[in-house]
Amino acid sequence: MSGPAITVFDDLAALTGAAAASVRRAAADARAAGRRFCVALAGGSTPRGLYRLLAEPPPAGDQAPDVDWTHADLFFGDERTVPPDHPDSNFGMARDALFSRAPIPPANVHRIQGEAADLDAVARAYETLLRQRAGEPDPTLAPALDLAILGMGADGHTASLFPGTTALDEGTRLCVPVDVAKLNTRRLTLTYPVFLRARQVLFLIAGADKAAPLRAVVEGPDRPRELPSQVIVRGGRSVSILCDRAAAGALGGIANSKGESES
Ligand code: 6PG
Repeated sequence: MSGPAITVFDDLAALTGAAAASVRRAAADARAAGRRFCVALAGGSTPRGLYRLLAEPPPAGDQAPDVDWTHADLFFGDERTVPPDHPDSNFGMARDALFSRAPIPPANVHRIQGEAADLDAVARAYETLLRQRAGEPDPTLAPALDLAILGMGADGHTASLFPGTTALDEGTRLCVPVDVAKLNTRRLTLTYPVFLRARQVLFLIAGADKAAPLRAVVEGPDRPRELPSQVIVRGGRSVSILCDRAAAGALGGIANSKGESES
């Protein structure tokens, strides 16, 4: 793998616009290949603007057409153990920003039922659903999603793959419950096999608090237990990092707005 393509934008708005174009291109590529567009959505706050933009028609002159939501399956990279109406719900955030504002058939949105009592059963059912919808004939392989949208925490976590947690050791299951001691909570997360097999991974990273961890992930030594994002950045099939100038502040190389920096 040639390493991630890193693009630095002046601000979150510019990053978000470029991310929307990337999502639409990935959807068009899937359509052209005769596949349903299978995408895993990120939680957190950074992607909210992206989801809002995807609910709108593409800007005039945009190369990629609007997403054909009737031929799409929307999954989640992780979910908190809360009901969908809880303010912390990743599904709730995406519902308010996108699902409630775009013509997406509800059957094409696949919520992880974080509020359930038996999280292991939820994880296993989600794996079955992923395999059914994303269609991988080889049961020993994770299905190849067309796109995984990810964020990165200031501690280098992504999805709910947090440093030092058991989810980092999962090399077979596609979705697992995980105890996140530092947050005193449990989460459900897709695992490395899914993210490493995705045709494209798009990291959206903004804010000065991400500068040090982004540099460590991109330019530092391998530290897979401490920097889970690094495992995907270095091992993914095709990884793009869209970051704002603040998050790129510690990166070496020549970073300029909308430019490609060394990686
Ligand atoms: C979550 C996300 C998580 C998020 C990062 C970055 O459920 O919170 O999956 O991995 O992407 O924590 O969050 P921000 O976008 O809010 O900085």
